[in-house]
Order: sequence, then structure tokens, then C-alpha cells
Amino acid sequence: MSMLEGAPWLLAHKSMLQTNQPQKVSLYGNDYVIWQDKTGQVNGLPNICPHMGAMLSEGWCETEADGTSAVVCPFHALEFDRHGCTILPGTDKKTLPQLKPLDLIIQGDFIWSYGDYQPKIPIPDILEQIAGKYEFIGFTANTSVETDLRSMLLIMHDYNHQNGTHRDLFEITEVRFEKFIDNGYHSEAFFNTPTAPKTFWEKLKQPNQFLLPEVIQAHLENYFPSLVIFYGNSPFGKIAQCHLFVPESLTKTRTYILLFGEASNPLAKLLKNQFLGLSKIVVEQDAGILNKIYSDAPQKIKLNNEMGMDWVNRNFTTWEQPRI
Ligand code: FES
Ligand SMILES: [Fe+2]
Repeated sequence: MSMLEGAPWLLAHKSMLQTNQPQKVSLYGNDYVIWQDKTGQVNGLPNICPHMGAMLSEGWCETEADGTSAVVCPFHALEFDRHGCTILPGTDKKTLPQLKPLDLIIQGDFIWSYGDYQPKIPIPDILEQIAGKYEFIGFTANTSVETDLRSMLLIMHDYNHQNGTHRDLFEITEVRFEKFIDNGYHSEAFFNTPTAPKTFWEKLKQPNQFLLPEVIQAHLENYFPSLVIFYGNSPFGKIAQCHLFVPESLTKTRTYILLFGEASNPLAKLLKNQFLGLSKIVVEQDAGILNKIYSDAPQKIKLNNEMGMDWVNRNFTTWEQPRI
């Protein structure tokens, strides 16, 4: 099992962090506390207090004179600034760093990290491009799933699971696969899927159905291993649904969605919560099936349209090969 060390991971979008509210994130089996101060700066430290091990993410923030803030341990209230330095009671001088800050790379509202590893591939700039073109609708489905990274990526590149995993949501009658463009760690898939016709009354019972077109024209853009973007058209305008993945440990993978929509459509704004709700159901259904498969089972049957999964497996192998 591999967590693809050396890849960049998007730990969060800034909207997921409330000002001065410490939050726990996990990467490669380590827990960190990240927080955003009121100057907009985002900081990260290991989550284990070096005094007696309390979780700093359970504490709070204190703003310093310059507007930056320190995280305060909930146990004995030691304050750690963003460099990991503290002032011990009875002294008035800051210590040397007691915690090694987590390396964060901030691009606009996007908070990336390689953990403590040497970068193997660059951070894709596609999210910044999308943020420039579309309006940010929100984040949803921030879920920690009991599964390894590879199983999570496989389901995200599996074009055949709609009728099993997502059967009640989409009722897809067939997958018409058009093309798969393989560019190493970047790829694109194009397919369309007619959905079963629904009457107005059926839709009324499941109002999310109003958002779905009769034929879902799917264009997926994949940035191995951290990001899958679904570009779709709904009756209310274009959307870019960005699925993110973070390997929390060998057996836990976090996923969440950042949703962007075409800025010009006022209806899309009104339907913001419906769009987010629909995306959330999709992720819940994926998480549900991931908990019900034997992830190390050998695959003895192959279906058509599995090129996305072949791409994932090939890239895992390439990643692990020593570079000459
Ligand atoms: S455990 Fe953090 S201050 Fe004591
Ligand atoms: Fe799915």
C-alpha cells in the first residue's frame, strides 16, 4: 500500500477555516493543527502539545499585537506561535521552536502541502484557473473514509459504478464512453450518460432530480493523485465540481468537494444548497460502498470502460519506480 509520498495535497480551501478556529488535519499518519488568523495567514503545527500531549486542535487562538495568532493548548494553556515557540510561565522570553511547523503552500484560497516530503511533482494551477473563471459555490462532503488511497482513487475513476453505487440518484441507462486522453499524471475522460426519464411528480419527490439533465455530458479532468474535476452542464448552467483526496493514513482517506459554478447564472446561486446537497449524496454513496468491498481482493473480471482505473493503477506503479 502506498500513500504516494512526494505528491501535493490540498488540505483545505480557506473557506473551510474560520478565523482563529483551530482545526485538525491528518496527512501520512500525522495529525496537525491548522488555523487562519485575522490577517488571512494560515499556519500549521503538529497537533501534539509538547508538554503533555493534548490535542492543540481542541484549544483556541490568541491574537498577538501584529494581528497574527497563536494556538493555545486546551490542557495547561501554553500558547504556541506559528513558529512553534512558546513562553513558559515564570519567564518572559520566547523559547526556541518546540514544534516544527508544517510546510504549507498557499495559492489564492488553496492550502497545499507535501507533508514533510520532497516534492516529486508540481502543484497543479488548475484550481486557481477555475477560481478565476467560475464563482465559488462552497465546499461539501468533507469525509474521512476508512479506505486506502488507491481504493478511493479507483472509485473516482470508475465509469461503471453509477448503476450500482449511485443507482437511486442517477438511474443511468447506459454509459456512452467517448474518449480517454492519457497524458501521464494528467488525463481527461469524456462520456455521456442518458438518465431514465422522470415525470414531474417523480422529480418533486426527489427535488435534486431537477438539477440533472436528461443526458449527463461528463468531462472529467484528472490530476493524479490529488484531484478529479467534473465539468458538467445542468439545466441551470455550468459547474466545475472538484473532488479532492488526502491520504490521512494507510487506512484512512479524506475526500471533499469544492463546487464552482458559472458566475453569470442567478438561478445557480439560488440553488446553491441543492447543488451542494446533491454532491454530498454522491460522496456518501461512494464512502458507503468503499466500506463494503474487500479492497485487497484480486480483480478477476474486467469490464469495458475501465481505462480510468487502469490509468490509476499504472500511475501507482510508475510512482513507486525509482527514477534513473
Ligand atoms: S499539555 Fe499542552 S500545555 Fe500541558
Ligand atoms: Fe461515485
